[in-house]
Amino acid sequence: MSAGAVGRAYPRLEGREKVTGTARYAVEYPTDGVTYGWVVPADVVRGRITRVDADEALASPGVLAVLHHGNAPRMAPGPAAELRLLQDPMVHYRGQFVAVVVATSLEAAREGAQLVRMEYDAGPHTTVLTADHPGLYRPDHVNPHYPTDTAEGDFDAGYAAAPVRVDATYRTPAYHNSPMEPHATTARWDDGRLLVHDSNQGTASVQATLAELFELPRESVRVVAEHVGGGFGSKGFTKAAVVLTALAARHVDRPVKLALTRQQLFGPIGYRTPTIQRVRLACDADGRLTAVCHDAISQTSTIREFAEQTAVYTRSMYAAPHRRTTHRLARLDVPTPFWMRAPGECPGAYGLESAMDELAIAAGIDPVELRIRNDPRVDPDQGEAFTSRNLVACLREGAQRFGWTGRDPTPRARRDGRWLIGTGVAASAYPARARPSSATVTARPDGTFLLRINATDIGNGGRTAMWQVAADALGVPPERVEIRIGDSDLPEAPVAGGSMGTASWSWAVIRACEALRGKLRDGAPTDTEVTAGADTSEEVAGQPARPRYAYGAQFVEVRVDADTGEVRLNRLLGVFAAGRVVNPTTARSQLIGGMTMGLSMALHEEGVLDERYGDWVNHDLATYHITGCADVESIEAYWLDERDDELNPAGVKGIGEIGIVGTAAAVANAVHHATGVRIRELPIRLDKLVGVSGLA
Ligand code: MOS
Repeated sequence: MSAGAVGRAYPRLEGREKVTGTARYAVEYPTDGVTYGWVVPADVVRGRITRVDADEALASPGVLAVLHHGNAPRMAPGPAAELRLLQDPMVHYRGQFVAVVVATSLEAAREGAQLVRMEYDAGPHTTVLTADHPGLYRPDHVNPHYPTDTAEGDFDAGYAAAPVRVDATYRTPAYHNSPMEPHATTARWDDGRLLVHDSNQGTASVQATLAELFELPRESVRVVAEHVGGGFGSKGFTKAAVVLTALAARHVDRPVKLALTRQQLFGPIGYRTPTIQRVRLACDADGRLTAVCHDAISQTSTIREFAEQTAVYTRSMYAAPHRRTTHRLARLDVPTPFWMRAPGECPGAYGLESAMDELAIAAGIDPVELRIRNDPRVDPDQGEAFTSRNLVACLREGAQRFGWTGRDPTPRARRDGRWLIGTGVAASAYPARARPSSATVTARPDGTFLLRINATDIGNGGRTAMWQVAADALGVPPERVEIRIGDSDLPEAPVAGGSMGTASWSWAVIRACEALRGKLRDGAPTDTEVTAGADTSEEVAGQPARPRYAYGAQFVEVRVDADTGEVRLNRLLGVFAAGRVVNPTTARSQLIGGMTMGLSMALHEEGVLDERYGDWVNHDLATYHITGCADVESIEAYWLDERDDELNPAGVKGIGEIGIVGTAAAVANAVHHATGVRIRELPIRLDKLVGVSGLA
């Protein structure tokens, strides 16, 4: 690649359209004869629909149809049971979509949905995860395909023999994704072909699932996601909205638009599972870890197993001769949990990185130094050398930038008037994976190029990054490159998820550009269009199985009001090692966005579930609190100039998730330093601080 566009801070290509409101999202495409759908949620937790009374709704002005299990078009057994909506009368969780009202206006659809009467036979339910839940079991594996449990050495003996030990249980509540654009779809059928404009993180899997559910050849389904207003994992697979919209459009034989409301996002689209994590750590007098154990409990639904990999983070993070990790799961009468930014790594890091802070205190060793002392060269889990592991460099550079040196470890030692001041640190890691992708690139006679790839830009700058990569791979200024993404008619490419979009797509983009340059060098005519394509399936599959991770370290300074327990961050600073950075502007936003979400998790976010009701009682942004600017005065993200030639042709590791991973632990560790109160159950609310250690 010639030096050029990669590494330069370009604004998003579609930035002007977005800020002027002309960029089109899923329900914003003008559609002739369009109708509107509104979902009806179940108002029992577990049971069976015994009667649907749609008469009043159907008599309401503008209402065209009420779809429910008794009349909705049939779907084939699909890849996920939870997508086979309106196919049978069973209710598996409160809020499950049990009917859709279609009307000529949005208002009429909403009004109609209020008028649908459902009767149920309801049974007993269990919706709260506890450490001794009778339903706990050992899943066969955890996401995406990790072993459920691992063991090396003799943890119990190693732990018992160690001079310094920590045994603590950490809890995280359910967290809800709430992207700015909700799950939303416009669907239309034309001559047996289905066209959907849908808000998702990857149209290929949505296309494949819809084809299966509606028993169509894949080419009869087209899914477009040109602009997507966030997803954070919640749109990483086919979800209820697109299935229901396609079903409704088929039923009324007209185009249908359906957007979930903010409230309807709290549950049915998936959420981050609550966790209960017991972490035991032991070290010798020098702070060398001798025994590490992480036992994680999380939940799934009764309709599909979703086994989050909470303790997997601990397997490769720090070395010790005696190690064990386990996962147990309870099937509850709840919606199926799903991906949320760094699923597994993020809650798992809250557990392990909090416990490391507790161990540092128990051992009398600085927490930065404790992590440096236990940094492995070889992956403790796989026994292979990391392609690159620059956690120590992140910790050192972070400590220097933050001004960590000389920190007095004594809790409650710093005070500024009413404010108790404390600092904390945590480490972060996230796998640097890539998936097969394809792309084509066309040279036009006028000297411009068209890149086609079914990548998805979920708001993070993926489109711009691919455009930069293509320009360099072609050896031309980026202004001569045009890019098309977000359409299943384009060459197939994987989902924008798992921090692997840029790694996967750029691989195919670079190979396609190389192939095109080869054709042009070999004398292909330049007075017509010349196209070349690439598919990286074999190359990606043939890559040696070396452990690949991005790393980071977050540093936090908090102040805690000694009278009220109110927590504010003076500073949140992260240093990351994530391979090559394609675009500093969008990369910085990704890292800061991740850290902000981690701060939100630390201080505010909590799905509060009422067992009697069988659902979260806070499901809007008035009651489910998220962080705001007033919570933090300064957020900084830095990255090392990391080169790792064993990753992928662009040398990138992915930056979507690493920012969040350790942030909540860093905040909790800083709060402990400020107050002497160790919060082992997020969020860190003031009621947990006041009165616990005589703060007031
Ligand atoms: Mo992200 S949770 O992998 O979309």
